[in-house]
Amino acid sequence: MIPKDFTVRQIGPEHRKAVIELVNQFFRMLNKLKLDGVFHVRPRAAAKMVDVYLKIRGTDKIVFLGGFLGEELVSVLIARVEDKPYLEEERNLFIDLTVTKQGKRKSGFMKPLVEVAFQWAKDNGIRAVELRAVAENENAVAFWKAMGFDPFYVRFRKLV
Ligand SMILES: CC(C)(COP(=O)(O)OP(=O)(O)OC[C@H]1O[C@@H](n2cnc3c(N)ncnc32)[C@H](O)[C@@H]1OP(=O)(O)O)[C@@H](O)C(=O)NCCC(=O)NCCS
Repeated sequence: MIPKDFTVRQIGPEHRKAVIELVNQFFRMLNKLKLDGVFHVRPRAAAKMVDVYLKIRGTDKIVFLGGFLGEELVSVLIARVEDKPYLEEERNLFIDLTVTKQGKRKSGFMKPLVEVAFQWAKDNGIRAVELRAVAENENAVAFWKAMGFDPFYVRFRKLV
């Protein structure tokens, strides 16, 4: 059961430090995966990404949500609208990043953020939500399947 003091709120500049720390937890985890030896998140990527999203937050182009346990930030979801002019659906919502704080995972702290993002998409006439997960990140793949997502594209990668 999700605790009563859990709330989903918009992320603002006052949360910058806490969001960067969570995003960094994810990037550090990605960088520990073996992968192909070239794929590596750059230092300071988390701060840069968070600052870009903080700049454009509040527009109708992004969803920037935090899950809070009282005042503690425990989960983050970052998504943006992608234009798809060649598709009948024209736009979709692309989830750039989701992370729940270490030690707080599998407690139901991400699902409500995904649900709010879906509602936002519906309210904005968007019919599909997409995202990318590194195949080797088996935990993420299992989570998205549990959220009702199906693999749809296969994105290939080969080193030159
Ligand atoms: C992936 C991640 C964001 C999931 O967040 P979470 O807070 O653990 O997810 P929740 O507790 O809200 O889980 C929601 C549902 O997914 C299920 N779920 C979560 N992780 C799962 C897993 N590894 N395998 C199977 N089901 C899983 C939960 O059981 C729950 O199911 P329910 O609705 O039937 O109860 C979290 O594991 C994380 O931060 N991982 C590191 C960062 C990362 O890899 N992000 C994804 C990038 S694509």
